[in-house]
Amino acid sequence: MRSAKIVGLGKYLPPKILRNKDLEKMVDTTDEWITTRTGIKERRIVEKGVAASDLAREASRIALKRAGIKPSELDLIIVATITPDTQFPSSACYLQNYLKAKNAACFDISAACAGFVYALTTAWQFIESGLYENVLVVGSEVLTSITDWSDRSTCVLFGDGAGAAVMTASGKKSFLSSYLGADGANSDLLILPGGGSRHPASEETLKHKMHFIKMRGNELFRIAVRVMVYAARHALAKAHLQTEDIDILIPHQANERIISAVAKRLSLAQDKIYVNISRYGNMSSASSAVALCEAWEAGRIKKDDIVVLDAFGGGLVWGSCAIRWQ
Ligand code: UT7
Repeated sequence: MRSAKIVGLGKYLPPKILRNKDLEKMVDTTDEWITTRTGIKERRIVEKGVAASDLAREASRIALKRAGIKPSELDLIIVATITPDTQFPSSACYLQNYLKAKNAACFDISAACAGFVYALTTAWQFIESGLYENVLVVGSEVLTSITDWSDRSTCVLFGDGAGAAVMTASGKKSFLSSYLGADGANSDLLILPGGGSRHPASEETLKHKMHFIKMRGNELFRIAVRVMVYAARHALAKAHLQTEDIDILIPHQANERIISAVAKRLSLAQDKIYVNISRYGNMSSASSAVALCEAWEAGRIKKDDIVVLDAFGGGLVWGSCAIRWQ
């Protein structure tokens, strides 16, 4: 039996804090609205010039140290991000250079808020197939680089950060199942319209603020709850588990009300869910990566626990995986 397990976790949040009170001075909003509608109190933001691979590097160093694996032992680096340093090369390539992980193949995954779950699943498959031994998986985002600071419906939601996981081959089955899905028909609900090959950067795209996140939050909200419940149930069924078997659910942190609704529908008690949205906001692919790391650091994940990751985001994309912690 050959499988994969997580042997090291790390996270990095830039030190600068943007509080709801600060946003009150920037747009027509209130701490009360943001707190009650989203659960967010503050978020981290990078200094000018800091990119996704810079945050990824700090989180990865911690994860590698905890794993006891040298960068030169990595066979593959996968960075899940929708805010790569550049369109190309990938942020994974920049990260490889910083870490001096010269034996690693590198690529980025673009699966928005489900990126970390997509990347973990990909790494698991590469290891279980026997192609690679050690894989570094990172969710890293500088969402403030694509945030319209004059749009109150989005700028209060997002933050910057990174989380990393080192995975290695194992004789025991730790990754029990994964369920990934997508719905391209609803791609316009959450989108960065400008700067790609459809609308290359131009005066026109700048004028229409097409390099910023556009989101139809209200429509997404309902889909998010439905799809996250569906994804978690699907992943559990594939692993022959019930919701009662979950020791901890690590949901994507887009909105505390979404998380509560998902937990309610899965009949999960509050102490079985890890929530940190109040401190970081929505960090897309980094949200579940950081939440997983923090839950582990807080002693909330023990050996043999059933850990379920559950994420949803722009694409639309969603994913859930069930892990027996080793
Ligand atoms: O990351 C994965 C994908 N993302 C999601 O899953 C996000 C899902 N959506 C959400 O979390 C919520 O829809 C939001 C937090 C984005 C918005 O909350 P909502 O309760 O759905 O608010 P809404 O968009 O329906 O807006 C309600 C009202 C509107 O005013 P009117 O039209 O009722 O007068 C908005 O203009 O709240 C207003 N509003 C604000 N007011 C104060 C919107 N943003 C703000 C704001 N401050 N920042």
